[in-house]
Amino acid sequence: MPQAPYVVDKLISSKAIAARVEALAHEITDAFKDTDKLVVVGLLRGSFIFIADLVREIDLPVEVDFLEASSYGDGMESSREVRILKDLRGEIHGRDVLVVEDIIDTGHTLKHVLEILETRHPRRMEVCALLNKPSRRETDVPARWIGFDIPDEFVVGYGIDYAQRNRNLPHIGKVRFTE
Ligand code: PRP
Ligand code: MN
Ligand code: MG
Repeated sequence: MPQAPYVVDKLISSKAIAARVEALAHEITDAFKDTDKLVVVGLLRGSFIFIADLVREIDLPVEVDFLEASSYGDGMESSREVRILKDLRGEIHGRDVLVVEDIIDTGHTLKHVLEILETRHPRRMEVCALLNKPSRRETDVPARWIGFDIPDEFVVGYGIDYAQRNRNLPHIGKVRFTE
């Protein structure tokens, strides 16, 4: 299906994102200060920029791993059927784990991923999401750290796509259709 024309209006500046990421990383460093190693799990693809910035501000021994889950495909609505397309490389049994997500919308993606990871019995598992849309939540997810609560807008940039586009935008913007 061809994409209707749209523009992207700025919602959160890259400067504001950087300041918030730094603050989150300090809180995470403090919360996990006794860990021997923190396994930071990024959910692909949306979290790739956030996790890159976040881990560089975390002052702990860190292992970086990725898991790919997809529910939106190229559409604007959650399919509510979360598919695991790529599993973690490493073991998380008995480890301290931080799951890093770009955005929590309905909550289905994160809920599904956390259920799978829990079966592997990490010692401790917490969630950090850059963006949160509380008005859209359909299922409860325990996210200890949230960067920004945002209104119900379709957002792109800083890793987040609309039909695989706009992930490379350095700030967070909202999609506005022009016709
Ligand atoms: C998006 C986003 C989150 C999820 C949030 O991923 O990156 O992972 O949807 O939506 P939910 O809370 O309603 O489940 P998407 O499925 O588009 O895959 P992507 O990260 O590869 O873009
Ligand atoms: Mn995603
Ligand atoms: Mg997507």
